Amino acid sequence: MQTITERIQSLKAEKNAVILAHYYVPDEVQAIADFVGDSFYLARIARETAAETVVFCGVHFMGESAKILNPDKRVLLPDQTADCPMAHMATAEQIEKLRRETDDLAVVCYINSTAELKALSDVCVTSSNAVKIVKALPQKNILFIPDENLGAFVAAAVPEKKFYFSGGYCPVHAFLSAADVSAAKRSHPAAPVLTHPECGRAVREISDFLGSTAEIISFAGRSDATEFIVCTEPGVLFELRKRYPEKTFFPAGMVCADMKKITLEKVLHCLETGAGEVFIGEEEGARAYAPLARMLSLG
Ligand code: 13P
Ligand code: SF4
Repeated sequence: MQTITERIQSLKAEKNAVILAHYYVPDEVQAIADFVGDSFYLARIARETAAETVVFCGVHFMGESAKILNPDKRVLLPDQTADCPMAHMATAEQIEKLRRETDDLAVVCYINSTAELKALSDVCVTSSNAVKIVKALPQKNILFIPDENLGAFVAAAVPEKKFYFSGGYCPVHAFLSAADVSAAKRSHPAAPVLTHPECGRAVREISDFLGSTAEIISFAGRSDATEFIVCTEPGVLFELRKRYPEKTFFPAGMVCADMKKITLEKVLHCLETGAGEVFIGEEEGARAYAPLARMLSLG
């Protein structure tokens, strides 16, 4: 009798599939994936893979991005209801209105957004390349959708440009309270605070390092500190503890319930049945491809 992991591995080979997982999915799913990473790394792997089927262990916009970048491949999401609420926090009307009213405007779309929003944008970014890409754009005015916290972090690093926002936020990061982070700092005074820029301003201001999940992991590796307070989704602790067993990590972030919907049983089910396939209309997919491809070349 095969274990569930063995069944997943043999079906993966049989179907010429690759399994990608974000750092926020449950530990046991990260453990069986071929590639684990942040949004930017996973988008690049999805673009480069030779596999016929991509099983994307993450939320809906991640599977959609993989499909947009690979219209001829089969992309499977183990749970189609795993959705990032922030991905919907901008509207076509907001974009069209500002485009009408503002000259020299670029619409910069955080990858945590629907295919519809990407299709209306000039370029996509992730938290690990947003500053670099916004700096490189020729336009002086930037509409940054949907995350206003990441947008404010980018605006602080690119003061020469004028920013507009759609008012979106990540409920997991934005509601982390500065009082809780300060309490963790008092309990662990030697621990630097490593924070995802989706957190609110008050938390960002009392942090020692701001960066994407992958940047937080690499900072912890090169830092001389031996303990850290981690202000992002605690799934990232699986990789941190695996890479740096001699260091101690204290989670301060909240759980993303949507990322946690991905289970080994659902990964097996989609490989067995082909359930959870992502479909994108040809026209929308073609329009959303350009901003994602631009991100991959600029980022
Ligand atoms: P990363 O780009 O750091 O992987 O973050 C993705 C995300 O959903 C953060 O909430
Ligand atoms: Fe979306 Fe926030 Fe979950 Fe990331 S942590 S997937 S931004 S809800």
